[in-house]
Amino acid sequence: MDMRFSVVTIFPDMIEAFKKFGVVAQAIAEGIIEVNVYNLRDFTTDKHRVVDDYPFGGGPGMVMKAEPFFRFYDFYLKEFGKPYVVLTSPQGRIFDNEKAMELSQKKDVVIFCGRYEGIDERVMDIVDEEISIGDYVLTGGELAAMVIVDATSRFVPGVVDEESVKRESFMKDLLDHPVYTRPRNVRGKSVPEVLLSGDHERIEVWRRKESMKKTILKRPDLFLKKESFDRIDKLSIIELFRELIKSAQ
Ligand code: ADE
Repeated sequence: MDMRFSVVTIFPDMIEAFKKFGVVAQAIAEGIIEVNVYNLRDFTTDKHRVVDDYPFGGGPGMVMKAEPFFRFYDFYLKEFGKPYVVLTSPQGRIFDNEKAMELSQKKDVVIFCGRYEGIDERVMDIVDEEISIGDYVLTGGELAAMVIVDATSRFVPGVVDEESVKRESFMKDLLDHPVYTRPRNVRGKSVPEVLLSGDHERIEVWRRKESMKKTILKRPDLFLKKESFDRIDKLSIIELFRELIKSAQ
């Protein structure tokens, strides 16, 4: 096993469902990653297994109690040793591919899913990093934990085809080009002829041109970040100009 994720939540079934499908399920079955799910209530000591309480000082909503998280942490240290602890929170640093790649270098990542209005501040002593998956407020951190596990797993060697990860990082400043599969004709719509030509350089230039077009139109901010233009980039810009001039004639 190359990487262990351990998700701590009051809704373990959400994460258990996520584990059953697709690439993540496959990676677990192949023993490349492990996704452990812990019910925070199992780390309470009272009869009613209470995980939240009213905020000191008053105010709306409930606060997640500190002690169950500390009890989980003590258990984890004994069982596996020191993990890297992430707390899902809209106040965290925004999650992106770079962060996913960085997390994939760790062996043991624990994710605390927040709920209610927040978590008792004293839990921060055992949290290494707060991560947000975007500027919106979710009702809980479980979806964020799944997003983090999913995107991070892709960078663990063997989880997805290595070539596609390499290609993605090479093309990170451009959006994907369109793709087609059989049949050649669907409802009167055909496949661009170049893709059937067997001419690899022409195909590569066409794809890059389509990527550039899409990026310039939909995500000019990404295009502005693009630092280097290789031979294929330049050929595709030439091709793009030819196409524009032709269509204007
Ligand atoms: N919990 C609530 N909203 C969140 C968000 N945007 N990202 C991560 N965790 C959250």
